[in-house]
This record gives sequence, C-alpha cells and structure tokens, in this order.
Amino acid sequence: QSIDFHETLASTNDRGLQLANDPFVVTPSLVLTPAQTGGRGRGANRWWSTAGALTFSVLVSPDVVELPVARHPQISLTVGVAVCEALRQRFPQADIGLKWPNDVFLHEKKVCGILVEVPPQRRDILVIGIGLNVNNSLKSAPAELQATATSLSDAVGNKFELSEILIEVLHMLEQRLAWLSASDPQLARRWEEFSLLRGKTVYIENHQNDIAGICQGIDEEGGLLLRTPSGIERVTHGIVKHFQ
Ligand code: BTN
Repeated sequence: QSIDFHETLASTNDRGLQLANDPFVVTPSLVLTPAQTGGRGRGANRWWSTAGALTFSVLVSPDVVELPVARHPQISLTVGVAVCEALRQRFPQADIGLKWPNDVFLHEKKVCGILVEVPPQRRDILVIGIGLNVNNSLKSAPAELQATATSLSDAVGNKFELSEILIEVLHMLEQRLAWLSASDPQLARRWEEFSLLRGKTVYIENHQNDIAGICQGIDEEGGLLLRTPSGIERVTHGIVKHFQ
C-alpha cells in the first residue's frame, strides 16, 4: 500500500495512470491532492472542484482484488454503491441515490463523480477516480453547476473533516470491491436499491447511438434495462443525459 500525496495536481487519475506505468507500482495505492486543477470527467467533460473537495484516485490490481477487467460496467456501479453506502452511514436520513452507472446524488443533485480507467499499458490495473464535493460550496461554481450539483456542506449546513470522509469511503470501497470479486448477489440488490432511474424515462447518449426508454432496472452484470418501442434494450455504455 502506498499514498501519493501532492499539494496540487492537475488530475489524480492522470497521475494514477502515470504511476501504473511503473512496473514496480504498488497496489492498492492512493493518489490524493487537496487542490486538483484539471480534473477530468467522463467523456470530454471536466470536473470542477475547489478547496474543500475530496479528489483522489485509487489504484487496484485485479490480481489483488480478483476483478476481471471484462466486468468493467459493474466496477463503476460498485464504486457508486460504496460511496452511497459511506454517505448513508453518515447521513441515515438523507436522500442518497445512484444515477447509472456511477453518479452519486444527494437531495436530487450530483454530489460525487466517478471515473474508472484502465491504463493502456497495464490492463491488469484499475484507476478509480472519485470526486466528492464536501466542504466546497457550489455557490462559487459556474452557474450551470449550481442548479445541478451540491456538496455535503451545502446540503447539510456544516463542515466535515476531509480525512474522516476519505477513510469512510475507502473502507466501504474495499468491502464492496470484495463483494464484486466474490460475485456476492447483495451487490446488485444495493445498486437497484440506490438507483434513481427505475420507472423513469431515461435518455442515453452513446456515440451517435442515442436511446431512450423506461428504466426497468439494472441487471446483475450492471446493464441498464430500458423498455423502448422496439422491446427491452440492455445498455452497457453511455451517459444518462436526462431522466424524468
Ligand atoms: C464524472 O462525473 O464525469 C466523473 C468525474 C470524476 C472526477 C474525479 S476527481 C478525482 C479523479 N481525477 C480526475 O481527473 N477525475 C476523477
């Protein structure tokens, strides 16, 4: 285990991908910075964050956690479930939800983004990037984010010890990755339980191949099941643009 801490860093995922090129890289390891300046989101998106946010990446090796890379969609959901559960432990009354495959919502606004990547040179390592808005207020964020995103302190009204939240998330992540490697059926029940999409009309953007339908649930392999005019479609990739 190792911790790679930087006062400032463009992107913890970029640093994680770089570390993964080292043949002697240790896994699991944690890349952490309190000041991420060029955070990346899914697709071409950027990840906005300011002081007070938690931004980190965890390198795990499928050899250690026994995760075949082919199960990638499930990995994203598993990380999402782990964050949801860590938040639920702390805020049992809060309205916490998971937007397939891996956005965590608090009180109907996005509080956490997850970016799982496989280094091109090391297909046996996963870089799991997590951006959780904690003490950073979205009031200082670009206007379009203020309407759709939140932070723990915006939602709850007080500040938190970042290291405590980090430890809670890492601890839950370890446990849920263990469920994934053991193919524990509880995992699929959890992502279904937290899913915000069931019964909703969902619009997916997927490389020119957009699709819309009514969500029937998420299957055990992590596929999103949509009822469309031409039958049930199983979606494994793409970004949910909108749901209602
Ligand atoms: C998304 O919602 O599109 C995913 C956002 C992921 C952001 C995190 S912050 C830590 C890690 N480093 C990055 O550059 N991105 C991820």
